[in-house]
Amino acid sequence: MEKRNHSLIKQVIYVSKPIGFDEKILDRILAQSAVNNKKNNITGALICRSDLYLQFLEGPAHKIDDLYSRIKVDARHREIKLLEDTRSKRRLFSNWAMKGDPAKDWMWTESEVIDGILDRLSKNDAMEVFVRHSREIDQFLS
Ligand SMILES: Cc1cc2nc3c(=O)[nH]c(=O)nc-3n(C[C@H](O)[C@H](O)[C@H](O)COP(=O)(O)O)c2cc1C
Repeated sequence: MEKRNHSLIKQVIYVSKPIGFDEKILDRILAQSAVNNKKNNITGALICRSDLYLQFLEGPAHKIDDLYSRIKVDARHREIKLLEDTRSKRRLFSNWAMKGDPAKDWMWTESEVIDGILDRLSKNDAMEVFVRHSREIDQFLS
């Protein structure tokens, strides 16, 4: 029974607020993540805007747990809130990518974020954002 979830990958989604959001900080996160995630067999996406980070991470459970505990104490953001923590047979993303402000009509306006829309986001809504995002980047077609 202990082995029940062994073959499943772990998927987490969290949201946070950037501290000192600029090109240099983003470049550094991108560089660290690209190397580490590849090495750790972690895929997913990081949506970055000046008012929020929204990240989807998937991979071997212990690797995701390690990474999430590092991310939680990272001084480059605050108010880290876990929105989803689940297991899956299949990955949603084939690699890891960082995406600059998707000011898309399906995302939220800055005032919605200030009004706390992310505090009311359900697990399903959070997952839906990344399902749409993964389709949008058409990663499995290229
Ligand atoms: C919003 C945000 C997202 C991050 N995403 C990742 C990630 O996907 N992978 C990663 O290895 N580090 C990520 N980091 C950085 C980690 O918090 C941590 O600094 C890093 O993993 C340490 O790597 P190092 O041991 O190679 O220096 C992220 C940091 C922030 C602020």
